[in-house]
Amino acid sequence: MESDADNLRQAVRDELNDDVGLYTRLASEAEARGENTLAEHFRAIKAQEERHHATFEQAVEKAFKAN
Ligand SMILES: [Fe+2]
Repeated sequence: MESDADNLRQAVRDELNDDVGLYTRLASEAEARGENTLAEHFRAIKAQEERHHATFEQAVEKAFKAN
C-alpha cells in the first residue's frame, strides 16, 4: 500500500501527464484542422492546467516535507 504522500505525488504527476498532455494534443489537432480559435482555447486551458499542477505540487511537497 502506498503512503498518502506517495498517492498525492502520483496524483500530481497524473495531472501533468493526463491534463496537460490532453490539452496539448487537442490544441495540436485543432490547429491541424485549421480551427485556430479552438486551438487557442485549448492552449489557454493547458496553461491553466500547468498552473494547477505547479500549485498542487508545491502544496504536496510542503505538506509532506518531513517525508
Ligand atoms: Fe487541473
